Formats: sequence, C-alpha cells, structure tokens
Amino acid sequence: MKVAIIGAGNMGGAIARGLAGGHYIKAEEITVSNPSQEKLDRLKKAYPDMNITNSNKEAAADADIIIIAVKPWKVEEVVKPLRLRQPQILVSVAAGLNFETLAHYVDPEMPIFRIIPNTAIAERASMTLVAARNASEKQIQTMLNLFNEMGLAMLIEEKQFAAATSLTSCGIAYVLKYVQAAMQAGVEMGIKPHDAMKMVAQTVEGAARILLNNEETHPTLEIEKVTTPGGITIKGINTLEHEGFTSAIIKALKASV
Ligand SMILES: NC(=O)c1ccc[n+]([C@@H]2O[C@H](COP(=O)([O-])OP(=O)(O)OC[C@H]3O[C@@H](n4cnc5c(N)ncnc54)[C@H](OP(=O)(O)O)[C@@H]3O)[C@@H](O)[C@H]2O)c1
Repeated sequence: MKVAIIGAGNMGGAIARGLAGGHYIKAEEITVSNPSQEKLDRLKKAYPDMNITNSNKEAAADADIIIIAVKPWKVEEVVKPLRLRQPQILVSVAAGLNFETLAHYVDPEMPIFRIIPNTAIAERASMTLVAARNASEKQIQTMLNLFNEMGLAMLIEEKQFAAATSLTSCGIAYVLKYVQAAMQAGVEMGIKPHDAMKMVAQTVEGAARILLNNEETHPTLEIEKVTTPGGITIKGINTLEHEGFTSAIIKALKASV
C-alpha cells in the first residue's frame, strides 16, 4: 500500500513520522511532497527510506492513499490538478471542508475520508476522528488501522464532527487548563512548578489509562474508589461542584462548537 502525504507542515509531518515509525506502512511506501525543501529534508534525515518530492503530482501518481495536509483554503488548488479517481482513496485533514465540497475536487464516486487528529499526534497519542464517504468496510478498517498507530482513531458520522472536535481538538486545551490550575494550587502549597506539572500530567495520563484500558469502567466508578466517606477527596469534589465545575465544563464544550 503506497501513501502520499501532500504538505509536510505540523499535521502532514506528524502523520508522516507516525506512519513511518509504526508497523502498518513501511517508510519506503510513503512519499511526502511540499513546496519548500527544509521540512522534507528533516523527514528524510529521520526516515532515510521515505520518499520526498516537491511535486504533488509525482507523490500522488501511483499512491493508493493520498493524504491532503495543506491549509483548508489551499485544498482546492492542490487537489484538483491531481485528478484523483477510484481505486485511490482521498484523505483530508483540512478542518471545516465537508464531503460535499471535497467531492467537487475529485471523482465524486471515489472513497473520501475526513480525519481530525489533535495535537497529541506528534506524541503518537492523538484522538483522531474519522468520517467516511463511499468507503468499503475494508477501507474503513485500513484507515482506522493507520491512525490507530498514532493514538486512538474512532469512526463517527460527519455531522458529529463539530461536537466531537470540541471534545478532542479543543479538549486538549481544556485538559491543559486543568493542569495549569492544579499547578497553581500546587505552587501555592509549596511545590516547585516543574514538579507540580509532572505530578499533574502523570495523574492525568493515569486517569486516562484507567478509562481506556478498562472497557467496563466509568468515571463515576473510579471516583468512588478514591472518595472515602467523610474523607478529603469528597470534600474537594463537592467544592468543585459548589464552584460550578461541571457546569463550566459543559458550557465551555458547547461554546466551542
Ligand atoms: N495543526 C493542527 O493541530 C491541526 C489539527 C487538525 C487539522 N489540521 C488541518 O491540517 C491542515 C494542515 O495544517 P497545519 O497546521 O499542518 O499547517 P502547516 O503547518 O502550515 O502545514 C501546511 C503545509 O502545506 C504546505 N503547502 C503549502 N502549499 C502547498 C502546495 N501547493 N502543495 C503542497 N504542500 C503545500 C506548506 O509548505 P510551506 O511551508 O513550504 O509553504 C506546509 O508545509 C489544515 O487543513 C488544518 O485544518 C491541523
């Protein structure tokens, strides 16, 4: 399976690195194209078997999967000249460009995927949203396998994208805001900022792993495990509620749709 990545910026570069460093696709099966050379050279240095080019057409010519990672307003001028058609698969990471629009730039019957990773893709820990149009079950599974190498990929309907990106793309900022607030509390109580950051970040990762590694669990069950009746944690939890924590989170997530 050959993969072309058009655009080697933040997102395209992270996807190229994620795929090349994973098990599903070999670096030699990846071709990345970008107008300026520097980003390509950096990729080539990290993965010498990866193919690089300044020509989008050359990258896409014999690729099975073409991942478009340019800014949304450049997608049309980049995709149209490639004349993509079945059995090729178009993958767009461009935020805000829906299937309806993308289908005008290619053979409208061809499989198209919209992918929204979050910034944790650089750490291979992205929550990646995937929506499919005209794709077979096998193609959908392939796409999930590709992006599961860079974190967790989930298939959703296109109409859920706005709500889901609030939870995942904006969500990263909200989680970091919690980390920042907890650090401020730690510093006031005499902990060094950097130590506080590590303590909170690892605690957040631990909480996430508890949920992701145990299908049967739920935040309420896990909170119950640490809230001894009459103990200190329930006092903190109830203080959060009195101060409007749950309400603030709900309002924030709805505000970013
Ligand atoms: N960053 C994120 O967290 C994030 C999250 C979700 C989705 N996205 C989506 O990902 C896409 C890319 O965003 P980004 O943050 O990665 O932007 P970026 O860092 O600016 O990368 C865009 C890349 O496209 C290249 N490019 C420009 N014109 C091109 C052309 N004609 N042919 C081929 N490549 C071309 C640029 O090359 P030069 O620099 O050499 O001009 C640059 O390397 C956007 O559509 C965005 O909506 C980004």
